[in-house]
Amino acid sequence: MATMTIPMETAQTMKAAVRRRWGRPRDVIELDEVTKPTPADDEVLVRVHASSVNRSDYYSLGGVAVLMRPMIGGFLRPKDEHVGGDFAGVAEAVGKDVSDVQPGDEVYGARSGAFAEYVSARTAVARKPANLSFEEAAAVPVAGLTALEALRDRGQLQPGQRVLVNGGSGGVGSFAVQLAKALGAGHVTAVCSTRNVERAWALGADTVIDYTREDYTSRGERYDLIVDVAGTHSWRQNLRVLVPGGRLVLTGMPSGNRLTGPMGRLARLWLSSRIGRGRTLVFFVCKPNRANLATLRELIEEGKVHPAVDRVYPLAEIADALEAMGDGHTQGKLVVRID
Ligand SMILES: NC(=O)c1ccc[n+]([C@@H]2O[C@H](COP(=O)([O-])OP(=O)(O)OC[C@H]3O[C@@H](n4cnc5c(N)ncnc54)[C@H](OP(=O)(O)O)[C@@H]3O)[C@@H](O)[C@H]2O)c1
Repeated sequence: MATMTIPMETAQTMKAAVRRRWGRPRDVIELDEVTKPTPADDEVLVRVHASSVNRSDYYSLGGVAVLMRPMIGGFLRPKDEHVGGDFAGVAEAVGKDVSDVQPGDEVYGARSGAFAEYVSARTAVARKPANLSFEEAAAVPVAGLTALEALRDRGQLQPGQRVLVNGGSGGVGSFAVQLAKALGAGHVTAVCSTRNVERAWALGADTVIDYTREDYTSRGERYDLIVDVAGTHSWRQNLRVLVPGGRLVLTGMPSGNRLTGPMGRLARLWLSSRIGRGRTLVFFVCKPNRANLATLRELIEEGKVHPAVDRVYPLAEIADALEAMGDGHTQGKLVVRID
């Protein structure tokens, strides 16, 4: 059993990006000195070297949709001031119940509050892929885990199936294209805009559709599984291109309006999908865990999957990274260097 290693500076402060009111990234993100976390018996204290930005980080600032604020926590102002989800770094201390990570191990994972010098992680922390830098590893957890769960678990992908990834060049989509191939899909189609077509080919797509020129629901092709990162089409349109028994796994939607954000569109899609005609709509929220981080590590170390890092920002420019994520057209992942 691992022993608790308590560094001398455990009770001290650390630098972290925080928000204490709702609003857009540039208006609310501050860099501040906050209390450094102390790991519980089942936690790993990680000295964070790099983090990465997910759309949920942007939504969680609450400048986008007023009615999403209570769901995130707090109506007038956020209850939790921490931001960030992905981390890669070095385990500094481990709780007495942790046996799979030792102090000094290079780790990666997901835990809220990761835009900080330290994070204390519990359910989703694992050894990082040995062939990745901290910056590359930080690009993996939330996006990679979401793509894995969407394809393997929610999509029930079978070898040889035809898969389409709508939004195949961003954070989740760039993993989904690679993972679909790695998990044995027979044919993978990626949908993206003109400037990302080359990128999608490089990820291993068998067909790339430029959505500014062609609509994937009007080409006469059919798919066993659609992983929809962009949420741009109605259920009726998707029905046209799903084979009988096919599945549409939705991970994301356009930002939507200032009041409800993506929720109104999601509700309409879900209601219309009740008329399934033998096809299934699945919407899910990814649950990061150690086992799936280990699966991703194996696929990455085997060279079957590689994170697509678009740009690395210093922590001081975290608000710019979050604003860029809000535009909805990032290429691969935006990484934040912490140290
Ligand atoms: N359910 C979950 O647990 C979970 C977890 C993670 C993320 N998400 C959600 O998944 C979504 C994607 O996240 P992300 O991190 O991958 O975002 P992202 O990096 O911003 O990627 C968005 C992608 O959508 C594409 N896109 C934009 N407009 C499109 C259109 N009209 N047609 C087709 N593709 C279009 C973009 O490609 P172009 O730049 O070429 O337009 C880009 O590849 C977000 O809504 C996020 O909140 C959900």
